[in-house]
Amino acid sequence: MNRVLYKIQGESMATGAAAGNRPPTAREALDAAIARFQQRNALSLELHRKATKTLPGGNTRTQVHTTPFPVYMSSGTGYQVTSEDGHTYTDLVAEVTVSVYGHSNPVIRDAITTAFDNVGLNLGATTVYETTLAEALCSRYDLEQVRFTNSGTEANLHALVAARAYTGKRKIVVLGGGYHGGLLIFRGGEVAVNNVDQADWIVARFNDLDSVRGAIQQEGVAAVLVEGLQGVGGAVPASVEFMRGIEASARDAKVLFILDEVMTSRLAPGGLASIYGLKPDIMTLGKALGGGLAFGAFGGRADILSIFDPRLDRSLPHHGTFNNNTLAMIVGHAGLTRIFTPEVCKQLNATGDILIRRLAAISTGTKMSFTGIGSIIGSHFTQAGLQTIERETPEVTELKDLFWYEMMEEGFWVLRDGRIALMIGTPQDELEKFVRAVEAFLQRYGHLVQVDQSR
Ligand SMILES: Cc1ncc(COP(=O)(O)O)c(C=O)c1O
Repeated sequence: MNRVLYKIQGESMATGAAAGNRPPTAREALDAAIARFQQRNALSLELHRKATKTLPGGNTRTQVHTTPFPVYMSSGTGYQVTSEDGHTYTDLVAEVTVSVYGHSNPVIRDAITTAFDNVGLNLGATTVYETTLAEALCSRYDLEQVRFTNSGTEANLHALVAARAYTGKRKIVVLGGGYHGGLLIFRGGEVAVNNVDQADWIVARFNDLDSVRGAIQQEGVAAVLVEGLQGVGGAVPASVEFMRGIEASARDAKVLFILDEVMTSRLAPGGLASIYGLKPDIMTLGKALGGGLAFGAFGGRADILSIFDPRLDRSLPHHGTFNNNTLAMIVGHAGLTRIFTPEVCKQLNATGDILIRRLAAISTGTKMSFTGIGSIIGSHFTQAGLQTIERETPEVTELKDLFWYEMMEEGFWVLRDGRIALMIGTPQDELEKFVRAVEAFLQRYGHLVQVDQSR
């Protein structure tokens, strides 16, 4: 094998095991990138090996596992994360949209210490802090009432329990490619891979209104549960007509419309519902709204939420030791009202919209494309260089992986599936640098990313 230096970009270089001086194939470029990754992250490999003894695969959260082994992060400050191997990255993962506030926001720190010093963590009782956060969420997201959970997954599960109890029906319509938590995954039109309740799901097609209408009109449907932008599905937005059509069909069929805003609540002051002009019966929330702590919530119509009113006969229990934990209540409230104000939210997403347009411009005519809304962005590689991506579109995984390895070498921490999320406080210069890094990548691998016009 003849290792050749293909092209040098400042400090970073793309090498590939290629014959002679021809540019490397995608496989060769990827193998070279993996070899460099292993060299740069030797301590992470050691930590991973140790972890595999007590954690299956060294992992307790599937999403953050990467091959050949995960990078171990040691800390995060401001807009950056630093790995155990000593590399500092501009954090474009933002904990998959949670870290909207950055890693060491003084308001969050202050809220945490105030909660600890003046309130206490485990009071085993009702406190005013849950009312304060409920008021802020109801006002911001146009909800009549809300209940808290410990995660977005739980929020969705309880929203479904509420819908079934309220309607007396059992079936739930979801969309292919949808993700509503670790127990509610709908990929490729299959039913949830790990949900106990498989028989009751109807999986309709994303961005295909006829498919959803048909599903909603079936006998025995309690609710339709959808994301307005499929996050885990690649930051792919639904069309406005599609979402409004779902809402109208659900209303006509007396089926509850549940909008999963666990990820998208950060996209506008009133969440994606406010951008698309939707009024869901139930909205589910989580991620950033806990200020960085484990959090979930579901809210909406009081007549539905009253199913959980413990004063009423035959109400449903909704237990959860940590549902009202003081830390998440206090920190979540501080984050939403003192940092992520409507103005700051609009500004962050305007920055994201500009970034999406710039990335789209530099990738036009290549196999790479970008999707998303505001501060949640997905990158994709397809053979045809499709600018509009549907969840089912097959991607060129070698290029996707190569992009991930090389963005790390350029100092950017990006999700392995190519998604990025913005956080408050990332300097504009860093975003500019990212655009230049993407552009350089596309030039470096021009022979691999050019769309084959003859196809
Ligand atoms: C749209 C959506 N719903 C629900 C969830 C689940 O939230 P959690 O991971 O807090 O359980 C996620 C998490 O990624 C999500 O993206």
